[in-house]
Formats: sequence, C-alpha cells, structure tokens
Amino acid sequence: MIWAITKVCYRTYHVVMKYAIRLLPFPVPRLLTGPGSVRLLAEEIRQRGHQRVLLVTDRVLMQLGLADGFLESLQRQGVAYVVFDDPQPNPTIENVERGRERYQRERCDGIVAFGGGSPIDCAKVIAARVGNPYRSVRGMKGLFKVWLPIPRLYCVPTTAGTGSETTVAAVITDSISHEKFAINDLRLVPKVAVLDPELMVGLPPHITAATGMDALTHAVEAYIGTMGTGFTDRNAERAVQLIFANLEDAYHNGDNLEARDNMAMASFCAGSAFTRAYVGYVHALAHSLGGLYGTPHGLANAIILPYVLEFCRRGAEVKLAQLARVGGLATGTESNEALFWRFVDKVKELNRTMQIPTCIKELQQQDIPLIARRALKEAHPEYPVPTIMTLQECGELLVRLLP
Ligand SMILES: NC(=O)c1ccc[n+]([C@@H]2O[C@H](COP(=O)([O-])OP(=O)(O)OC[C@H]3O[C@@H](n4cnc5c(N)ncnc54)[C@H](O)[C@@H]3O)[C@@H](O)[C@H]2O)c1
Ligand SMILES: [Fe+2]
Repeated sequence: MIWAITKVCYRTYHVVMKYAIRLLPFPVPRLLTGPGSVRLLAEEIRQRGHQRVLLVTDRVLMQLGLADGFLESLQRQGVAYVVFDDPQPNPTIENVERGRERYQRERCDGIVAFGGGSPIDCAKVIAARVGNPYRSVRGMKGLFKVWLPIPRLYCVPTTAGTGSETTVAAVITDSISHEKFAINDLRLVPKVAVLDPELMVGLPPHITAATGMDALTHAVEAYIGTMGTGFTDRNAERAVQLIFANLEDAYHNGDNLEARDNMAMASFCAGSAFTRAYVGYVHALAHSLGGLYGTPHGLANAIILPYVLEFCRRGAEVKLAQLARVGGLATGTESNEALFWRFVDKVKELNRTMQIPTCIKELQQQDIPLIARRALKEAHPEYPVPTIMTLQECGELLVRLLP
C-alpha cells in the first residue's frame, strides 16, 4: 500500500516536471563542426575579449599533444592561457578546488574544457565555484543551485560521448564518501562547443566503445522515459541512427573521419535529448558503481543497459520498439514485443563485438545493498523511468552483474 502511494507520488512529480521543463529556456551552445574546426575556436575566444583562459584538460591528452594546435592558435590570436591538467577520470571535488585556485591565482577570465566528459565536467564546476564562491561543490548538488553567473565556458569534447558539451549537468565524485553526484543548472551549458572529429582519431578502441555506448544509453533512456518531447525524441532517434551506423566503424577503424564525425554528432544529439528528458536506472547504477569502484562511466552503462531494458520491458516496450524501427532493425511488421527484444539483442551484440563484458568485474556481493540504495536515491523521484524499481528488484538486478 505504502509502495503504491510512493509510486503515485513519483509519477505526479514526473508529470509536473515534464511540463515545467518545457518552460525552461535551455541554452544551446554555438556549434563549430567538422574536421579542423577546433582551429576556429581561438578566434571566437579573442573576439569575445578574453585575455587569459584556463585550459582544463587531463594529463594523457597533454602527453599526446592533442591540444598543441589549439594552444598555438590561441597564441597567434594573442590570448594567454594556463593549462590545468589535474582532472582524473571521474573528477573529484579536490580537482575542482585546485582548478578554481589556479583560475583565481592566474587571473583568468574564461575557461576552455578540452577532453572527455571528465575534464569537461571538472571545468563546468570550476566555473560554477568561481562564480559562486559562497557555495560549496556539494552545496550545488541537484537542480538549479548555481545561482550567480559563471565565467564563459568553451568546450572541446575529445570523446563521443557524454554530450556534456551541451548538457546542464556535471558529474563529480566525492573521494571521501566514494559517491558520484550531479550538479544540474542551465548556467552550465557552454557558450561554444566544437565537434572536431580529427581530435578523436587517436581514441583507443575500448574508450571509443565505452563512450559510444554512453551516448546510446543517453538516447535510449531519454526516449523510453516519461518526460520526452517531440524535440528530445527527434534528437534521440537521430543519435540512435548515427550510432548504429557508425560506432562499429569508429571502433574498428579509428581514423575513419566520417565515422568519428557522425559519432560526435550522435553524442551531441543524445546530450540534447537527455539534458531535457533525463536519464534512468542505467545511469543511476553506473554512477553508484563509478563512485565506489571508479568503473568507467561508459563501460558501466554499456554493461548495465541490456539488464535495465529487460527489467523495464512492460513500461518501455512500445517506445523501444519504435526506436528499433527508426534504427533500422525492423524487417517487416513485427510486433512491438519482437522489436523490443531485437533492440535488446542489438545492444548485446554491439557489446560483444566491442569486447564489452557482461558483468562488472569489481562488483562485490557485500556492496550490493549500498550500491542499490545509492542508485535508487539518485533515481527517485527525479528520473522519469518507464517502470519503477523497488530496492529488492535493484538488488536482484545487481546480483546478475556479479562476475
Ligand atoms: N555532464 C554530463 O552531461 C555527463 C554525461 C555523461 C557522463 N558524464 C561524466 O563524464 C565522465 C566520463 O567521460 P568520458 O567517458 O568522456 O571519459 P574521460 O573523460 O574520463 O576519458 C577517458 C580516458 O580517455 C582519454 N581520452 C579522451 N579523449 C581522448 C582522445 N581523443 N584520444 C586519446 N585518449 C583520449 C582520457 O585521457 C582518459 O584517460 C564521467 O565522470 C561521467 O560521469 C557527464
Ligand atoms: Fe552518461
């Protein structure tokens, strides 16, 4: 009885949010796209009057020299820069605080995020802290807590991916409690985003696979959730089409520029969808696992996605069948149920082809209650999931993910 009332409360919340979110003025970043487009960013930055920007990236990318061309173009434009390459995969509160100190000490006046979702999210929260010095990183957790304006943010994703270049979200890890949490605010959407496939040709196959499956999960969760709109559905459909047509190519032939370009656009579209229509249990579980074990975000999503889809079948069958049709998986007039399973099989096949395992290798039986509690705390009531899960069902699902 109490559970039935709780479910009604969650659903009421989803309906209210569905209409409230339509009224929000979601900013859309100005897009620079295509091979070599990162070279245009320096001019944009100069035109907007910046004197010295903080480049937030990571050590691997600095060692690879991926940002060298861009830094030279900044120099040519007469814009000074300071490199901050501390952010680790699953960036932490400490990463953010050190970045904020650096920004203030060096008197920067803008931030360029250059890398995968980790440096991008770190850059977003550095900007939020600079603009809101009296709010802690934890204090901004949740919805709309970045109250004051933040420095201008430019974003160059080098994975495809998180879609963070267009989302209101930034995901940060508390390295003391080993918890991952999201900060969501319209102010966190970058002013300019660069989708340059040339920066992605060196992305190793396993990261191409995991990040591509992250983008697929964004599209799927936004589409089957109950908060979708025509706009988010169209973006999710486009993302799925592009991912089905290009992810395996990008995985097998990393230097295929067309596949990389299409994956960058797919990631952007999926980001545009989920930033308005939210994600679901796959992300809630992936965040819980990422916080506790450091499991890479995309990898966790890829592994969990088929299990959550199976769980959600009753609530998600019609929409997922539609996504299967749009994604080119239908051959005739199959039933929704048949197409639902075909989509799930397609996800499993993609995982198999790209050597993604079917279990979480770090997962330990004794951690399951904690992981389940944290995941459902994140998901309820916020995520507009097609089928609502109990704590026991969440634990049972996690048992299936044990190595
Ligand atoms: N803000 C959002 O909307 C959002 C959405 C989904 C995920 N996330 C977050 O993003 C983070 C994950 O980001 P990610 O999956 O992009 O991975 P990542 O940024 O952690 O990068 C993974 C690894 O790939 C390397 N790498 C990145 N680009 C490369 C390139 N072009 N060539 C070679 N190596 C490269 C990095 O150096 C790193 O070692 C997680 O913290 C996740 O929670 C945020
Ligand atoms: Fe994600």
